[in-house]
Parts: sequence; C-alpha cells; structure tokens
Amino acid sequence: MLRTLRLLGYVAAVTAQFNISHTQYDTSPPVYPSPQTNGAGGWDAALEKAQAFLAELTLEEKAQMVTGTSGPCVGNIGPIERLNFTGLCLHDGPLAIRQAIYVSVFSAGVSAAASWDRPLVRQRGVYIGAEFKGKGSHVALGPVIGALGRSPFAGRNWEGFSPDAYLSGVLVEETVHGIQSAGVQACTKHYIVNEQEMQRNPSVVNGTTIEAISSNVDDKTMHETYLWPFANAVRAGTSAIMCSYQRINGSYGCQNSKTINGLLKDELGFKGYVMSDWLATHSGIASIEAGLDMNMPGGLNFLSPTPSFFGGNVTTAVNNGSLALDRVNDMVLRILTPYFHLHQDVDFPPVDGYTPRLGFFGPGPYPYNFTLGPIVDVRQEQHAQLIRDLGAAGTVLLKNTNRTLPLKAPKNIGVLGNDAADFSKGQCSLVISGTNLGDGDYNIGTLAVGGGSGTGRFPYLVSPLEAIKTRGRSYGGTVQYITDNDYIVQGGLAALAPVPPDVCIVFLKSWASEGNDRSTLIAEWNSTAVVNQTAAICNNTVVVLHGAAPNTMPWRNNPNVTAILAAHMPGQESGNSIVDILWGDVNPSGRLPYTIANEETDYAKNLINSTELVTTTDPNAWQADFVENNLIDYKEFDALNVSVAFEFGFGLSYTTFNVSNLQIEVSASNVSRTPNPAAPIQPGGNVELWATLATVSVTVSNTGSLSGATVPQLYLSYPEEADAPVRSLRGFEKIALSAGTSGTLNFPLTRRDLSYWDTTTQQWALPTGDIRVYVGFSSRNLPLQGSLTV
Ligand SMILES: *[C@@H]1O[C@H](CO)[C@@H](O)[C@H](O)[C@H]1NC(C)=O
Ligand SMILES: *[C@@H]1O[C@H](CO)[C@@H](O)[C@H](O)[C@H]1NC(C)=O
Ligand SMILES: *[C@@H]1O[C@H](CO)[C@@H](O)[C@H](O)[C@H]1NC(C)=O
Ligand SMILES: *[C@@H]1O[C@H](CO)[C@@H](O)[C@H](O)[C@H]1NC(C)=O
Ligand SMILES: *[C@@H]1O[C@H](CO)[C@@H](O)[C@H](O)[C@H]1NC(C)=O
Ligand SMILES: *[C@@H]1O[C@H](CO)[C@@H](O)[C@H](O)[C@H]1NC(C)=O
Ligand SMILES: *[C@@H]1O[C@H](CO)[C@@H](O)[C@H](O)[C@H]1NC(C)=O
Ligand SMILES: *[C@@H]1O[C@H](CO)[C@@H](O)[C@H](O)[C@H]1NC(C)=O
Ligand SMILES: *[C@@H]1O[C@H](CO)[C@@H](O)[C@H](O)[C@H]1NC(C)=O
Ligand SMILES: *[C@@H]1O[C@H](CO)[C@@H](O)[C@H](O)[C@H]1NC(C)=O
Ligand SMILES: *[C@@H]1O[C@H](CO)[C@@H](O)[C@H](O)[C@H]1NC(C)=O
Ligand SMILES: *[C@@H]1O[C@H](CO)[C@@H](O)[C@H](O)[C@H]1NC(C)=O
Repeated sequence: MLRTLRLLGYVAAVTAQFNISHTQYDTSPPVYPSPQTNGAGGWDAALEKAQAFLAELTLEEKAQMVTGTSGPCVGNIGPIERLNFTGLCLHDGPLAIRQAIYVSVFSAGVSAAASWDRPLVRQRGVYIGAEFKGKGSHVALGPVIGALGRSPFAGRNWEGFSPDAYLSGVLVEETVHGIQSAGVQACTKHYIVNEQEMQRNPSVVNGTTIEAISSNVDDKTMHETYLWPFANAVRAGTSAIMCSYQRINGSYGCQNSKTINGLLKDELGFKGYVMSDWLATHSGIASIEAGLDMNMPGGLNFLSPTPSFFGGNVTTAVNNGSLALDRVNDMVLRILTPYFHLHQDVDFPPVDGYTPRLGFFGPGPYPYNFTLGPIVDVRQEQHAQLIRDLGAAGTVLLKNTNRTLPLKAPKNIGVLGNDAADFSKGQCSLVISGTNLGDGDYNIGTLAVGGGSGTGRFPYLVSPLEAIKTRGRSYGGTVQYITDNDYIVQGGLAALAPVPPDVCIVFLKSWASEGNDRSTLIAEWNSTAVVNQTAAICNNTVVVLHGAAPNTMPWRNNPNVTAILAAHMPGQESGNSIVDILWGDVNPSGRLPYTIANEETDYAKNLINSTELVTTTDPNAWQADFVENNLIDYKEFDALNVSVAFEFGFGLSYTTFNVSNLQIEVSASNVSRTPNPAAPIQPGGNVELWATLATVSVTVSNTGSLSGATVPQLYLSYPEEADAPVRSLRGFEKIALSAGTSGTLNFPLTRRDLSYWDTTTQQWALPTGDIRVYVGFSSRNLPLQGSLTV
C-alpha cells in the first residue's frame, strides 16, 4: 500500500514538477562542530606522523597546506622545503592522467561496471594508481560515484559505474583498494547528489547571480541510494572525498554541514579530507566549519584570478578568533594522515616534467619552487592487456539471432558508420574548439571515452576498423568500409560492391561530456537512418554502440539486425576489444549496469531544464526535487511494471547457463533490529552494519558447448515496512565455467544489505517478517526464489 501511494505521488509530482513548494527543502539541518579525526581504520601510525609534522608548522604553513595554488598539476599544495615536504600533486581523473603524455587511457567507469568483474575492476585501479605514482601525482581525482545516474541524460554518468547503489558500492570499493594499493590517494567524487550538468554552477544573468541547482533529497533516499556507495568508498579507506558543485536542500555542496560533518564524517566515520571541486567553494569560515578541509584550486591561477577564500583568510580568521585553531589543525591532520599512511613521504617520484600547453595551469611562474623530474613513460604492456580485456568484458551482447556471432570467417566484411574509423580531430577531446571541456562530437572518428575532465590523451588508439582489417586479412577476408554518416544517409551505400557483404558491422556513437547533459538517448549523426539503410541491403547487420549509455534502439527489432553489442567506452584498445568479441576469442560476459527502455520517453527524465529556466531572473529558480525517491533505473520500471527493451543485469553469451539449488543460511537470527549504537564507528560506519547475517548459495552450470563466464545476481524484496523498491540488487559474482561444468557461488548478506533506513530512529533497521530472495541472470530473469527472516 505504501508503495502504491508513493508511486501515485511520484507520478503526480512529476507532472506537476514546477508547482512543488520547495519550502520543505529550504534548509539543511545544521551539524556542528566538524568531527575531529582519529586513527580509526588502521591509520594510527600515520596519524602520529601527521601530528609530529603538524607540530613543526607555522600558522601560515597550515593555511598553505589546506589551500591550492598554481603549479604543475591540476591541483597543487605548495612545498615546505624546510621540512622536506615537496608538496602534493593532484591530477584528473578517473580513467587516465588527463593532460599527460606517455600514459594509458583505460576503460571508462561505465565499461568497468558493465563487466561486473570485481578482480578486473580492482586491477584497473592498481594500474591507474601505478601510472599516477610514476608521474609523481599523489592524488588521483577519482573514482566517480556521483553522478550515480539518476537521469539517463546526465552528461557524466559514464565516468562512474551504475545507477544501482549496490553495484556502484562494490565497484568503488574495488577501485579505491586498487588505486591505494599502488601508493596513490584516491579522491572519490562528487559528494553528493550531483546528478546533472545543467546549472551545476551559479551563473550571472543581467548582473543577477542565479544560484546553482539545488538537489532536494529526503533522508531515506539519501541513505538508501546516494550515500550508499560513499559508505563503501569510506570503508575501503578513500583518502579524500570531493564535494560537489551544486546545492543540496538549498546549501552548497562544499558548505553543507549536514552532508559533510553529519553524514560523512560523523555517521560514516570518514577520517580523510574533503576537498572542493574546482571553484565549488563559495565561502571561507562557513565552509571550513561545515567540514571542508581543502580548497581547490585555490587562488591566483589561470582558472581563479581572485584570491582564495582560504589561504590568508584562514590565518586572519584564526588570529582574530573567528576560527578555532583546532579546526585548522584537524584539516591539516586529515590531509597528511593518508599521505603518511601510503608512505608518500618516502621515495615518491618527482612530478613529471611534461607541462601541457593548455589547461588550468600554465608553464609558470608559480608561487612556489616545484621540483620537476624528467618526462617519464608510465605505460606497461600489462596495462594495455588489461584495457583490452576490460573493454571486451564490458561489452554487452544484447541480441544474437541466427547465431550470427561469433563470426566464423566471413569473406566479405562490411564496416559502416562514423564510429568505426580512427580519430579525425586529435587524440584528446580537450583541445577541440579551444575550450576546457571540448567537444568530441564530430562526424568521423570512434568514441573510446567521453569528454571533459574525465577524459584522457590517447597514447594511440586501435580503432574498430583497423582491428577488423587486421583480423579479416589474417584469413584472406576483404573489408569494405564507409565511415562518413552524412555520406551513408545520402545514398553512399551504393559505393559497396553489388554483392552485399556476408556481414555488415555498423558502428554508432553517443557523445557525452562534463559540462553538458545529453539531449537524446539515440546515437547521434543520423544513426537510425544509417542502420535502416544498411539493414535494407544487408540481412546480416551487426550493430555496435560506443560511448555514453543508455541508448535506445529504434531498429532493435529489425529482423536484418541480427546482433547488437553495447560496447561502451573501452579505452585505447577499443578495436581489439570488439574484435575479440566479434570473432569469439572472448565469449561475451558483460551485463547491463542500467536499463534500456523501449523508447526514450519511457524514462523519467529526472533532469531540470527549460527555456524559462535558461532565461530566469529568479536566483533560486533551479530546483531538482528527487520526487522519485529510490525509484531510478530498474527500480522505476519495476515499480511501474512496464516492459523494457533490455533490462538491468541482462547480457547474452555464446554459451548457455543455468542456476539451481538455492540454499539460504541465516547465521544470526533474532538479532536486534538496529545495530548497537555503542559499537565502534569505523570508516564505513557502525561496524555491525558490515557483519554477515545470512549467506545465500547457488549452483551455476554451463549447459552449452563453449567456455564462458556468467554473472548470477541476487535481488531482495523487503516487507512493506521497509517501503522499498520491488527488488534491489544485493549480490552478484562473475563465474567462469568450461562447457558442461558447474560451480557454487556464495552471496554473503550483511546487516546493511538486509536493512532499510529508518528515518525515525536514524538507523539502518532490519525489517520484521520475510525478505524474499531471488537469484538469476538479470533483474527480470530470476528463476530461483526463496525467503529468509532475521
Ligand atoms: C502549475 O501552476 C500554474 C500556475 O499556477 C498553473 O497554470 C498550472 O496549471 C499548474 N500545473 C499543474 C500541473 O498543476
Ligand atoms: C533535506 O530535506 C529533507 C526534507 O526535509 C530532509 O529529509 C533531508 O534530511 C534534508 N537533507 C539534507 C542533506 O539537508
Ligand atoms: C631533510 O632531508 C635531509 C637530507 O636527506 C636531511 O638531512 C634532513 O634531516 C631532513 N630534514 C627533515 C626535517 O626531515
Ligand atoms: C579572503 O577571501 C576573499 C574572497 O575570495 C578575497 O577577496 C580576499 O582577498 C581573501 N583574503 C586573503 C587574505 O586571501
Ligand atoms: C625559488 O628558488 C629560487 C632560487 O633558489 C629562490 O631565489 C626563490 O626565493 C625561491 N622561491 C620560493 C617561492 O621559494
Ligand atoms: C534468421 O532466423 C529467422 C528465424 O529462424 C529466420 O526467419 C530468418 O530468415 C533468419 N535470417 C537470416 C538472415 O538467415
Ligand atoms: C543527417 O543527415 C543529413 C543529410 O542527409 C545532414 O544534413 C545532417 O547534418 C545530418 N544530421 C546529423 C545530426 O548528423
Ligand atoms: C527506420 O526504420 C523504422 C522501422 O522500419 C522506421 O520506423 C523509422 O522511421 C526509420 N527511421 C529512419 C530515420 O529511417
Ligand atoms: C532485409 O534484407 C533483405 C535482403 O536480404 C531485404 O530484401 C529486406 O527488405 C530487408 N528488410 C528490412 C526490414 O530492411
Ligand atoms: C540474405 O542475403 C543474402 C545475400 O544477399 C541472400 O543470399 C540470402 O538469401 C538472404 N537471406 C534471407 C533470409 O533473406
Ligand atoms: C535545455 O534547454 C534549452 C532551452 O530549451 C535547450 O536549448 C537545451 O538543448 C536543453 N538542454 C538539454 C540537455 O536538454
Ligand atoms: C537582460 O537585459 C536586457 C537589456 O535590458 C533585456 O533585453 C533582456 O531581456 C534581459 N534578460 C533577462 C533574462 O532578463
């Protein structure tokens, strides 16, 4: 009943979007003072070193430690030569060291997510970390779990993993562990409810400042959806968290005491530091007291010609008594503890000598003497191999009629579409059109990662066309190709030989970048006409999509479209990754980390934008009410009980699997409904939340004739008391099996997995009554069912 009411309310609220009163969100509860750090989470020894270091610092040096400065990196903390401290070098981003040369460009977050492969995602983190360290960069500005993906249109979803909080939580944990095991600090971002690009920052219209959009989110949704993966990141020991540009309940992300002091430092027990997104700081003392520990990029540089709200203001405020020295000391300790914990004080490589021509930082002069090392090449053969493997593992086979795939040895191969060929406008979207964010949405050239600060400069790219030519030639095949979509839709397919190719592989792309949201979910550049026209002459058409996701596919039921692959953003080995799948060297095992709807209009758009807003003079006009609560992506479609094209968790293989033998073991029953409030708070929150209370196991069998891997998934349905979505993912594991063999998988369920957020007690609470358990191969293919009670 509750669920039905909520849904009705949701539909009504969506249609009445601009008639909602925002007064309920006008304030964010004040939470002060800012919690002080301690050594929890195994950081005791490092905290002691940080305290000893702090004792040597003057007040001016403390202010320097918390304030960015111009320098050789995208973010810089100045050195203190007297103490042999060489400063901190912070670099973008989540898939490469942007603006560096001789680095790898890894698969984007969306590809990592589509692999559902914990060890591969961990290894990606290890190698990214190794490249940052090699370049002398102490802090990697990634991974991303915000945007989570509330809106399928949001421009940065691809940098992160999945709109499912559980899946994102697992993958951010693997990534943080990976990066930090290489000795580099992870900065998990963007905290929090940073779910669209439009008006993420304030703007000025005719002299009036129009404030950034406010994400207005209730407490239950905050905990169950958006805060959830941040708890995993904190538990994994993330050194830093980056607060976001937009407002939350009317208060800017970097000065919201409820989210920073309250949720992050208090409830989740975060002991590292909170740094601002670049220019997301809008005050000095107010932000510091709300929990902000480091201001980036600081003042007086290319991006920020005005002085910092921190810097000298911190010194003045402490001296005149308006800011407690204790708070400043805590900021410094939070910044230095991860530095010592990761032994960055010992033999850390010097900052790379390469100075990019464009960006937030010019060639100097800088206010400090940064010591630069030589220009080094940090790429490794195994990094390229991992990128190739992950690109394939993150490719999802959606349709495969007539066993079109894997290809045998087609003699006559057609390659069509503007996503097939190599780049035609350079190797980094950043330099296009002279802006910082750039625009990679040009006709000819494959899209292997998105744009903005989360992009990378490719050291090379294996394009799909190049890899297919190599493969075809290896057995005497021929390859015909037309890579200009404008030409194709104007009749260019006539340029193919009169006998149609044995297979036509069409490559389409969907551009996305920081700074803009997507205006359509259909691949750009007349993609529908390109597929239609190809299918009209080629009854064996395979469509491959690269770039942002989800994409709707108007042609998906065309009988001549015999196979569809969502290939996402594989990185520098793109062509090799897709050839491995097409020719069956790799059996596809990717699964959708989001839902593909029948039509674009089937999704709740969850994006605030309108002509009136674009020209508004009301400073407070931009309001995003998260009226759908937890019901995003598959949880929305399940609640509405509507059909979709391809559901969350779906993906085909060249072999077949089944699951059987569901076993449910409750290891702790009749436990208290809420965790003991006296239990220790470790990074990640109350330790009892992470205790395993039940374990589900299943047998998985490969029933086909080829080796392959599959991803059994566990979903829970909670009793009505929890007011929860129809089903929620609470377990998954990729398992590789040779033909005819079986294996057993265990899904441990923690107290948090089994609980809902009780807004009254402000605790995670176990529901009384049966929790339904479902195991299968997607969110809508769940052959095994049972129940448990704790
Ligand atoms: C919203 O309010 C406006 C002005 O009061 C009114 O014209 C419009 O019908 C309302 N829309 C809905 C969906 O209630
Ligand atoms: C935002 O406001 C809602 C409604 O009052 C409240 O439930 C929630 O806790 C608030 N969150 C923050 C971060 O202020
Ligand atoms: C700085 O390094 C030099 C050379 O290794 C060493 O002699 C000196 O004691 C160090 N100073 C501090 C404060 O650690
Ligand atoms: C303090 O911050 C304000 C706002 O950025 C700036 O104008 C002022 O110059 C700062 N003062 C110092 C001493 O940095
Ligand atoms: C940088 O080094 C030069 C040469 O040693 C010195 O003259 C200058 O004062 C230093 N600048 C700073 C900001 O430390
Ligand atoms: C594919 O299979 C379907 C159903 O088996 C059949 O109707 C169709 O003709 C086949 N298409 C091709 C190109 O072989
Ligand atoms: C679609 O194709 C037409 C030519 O038929 C071209 O003029 C137009 O620019 C194309 N649009 C896009 C978005 O590619
Ligand atoms: C493509 O084909 C579909 C179905 O045959 C049709 O509905 C659609 O209008 C066509 N679109 C274009 C752009 O040709
Ligand atoms: C499928 O391909 C055949 C040629 O083999 C063609 O005659 C037919 O019109 C095509 N169908 C569609 C829907 O494009
Ligand atoms: C598919 O196209 C090929 C080549 O044109 C043709 O030989 C074959 O009969 C077609 N199959 C179907 C089912 O239309
Ligand atoms: C936002 O609205 C403006 C004005 O209607 C429009 O031009 C723009 O394309 C919209 N942006 C998106 C991402 O929908
Ligand atoms: C800005 O001012 C100009 C000149 O007064 C006016 O024409 C325009 O409508 C104003 N724009 C907005 C959004 O108020």
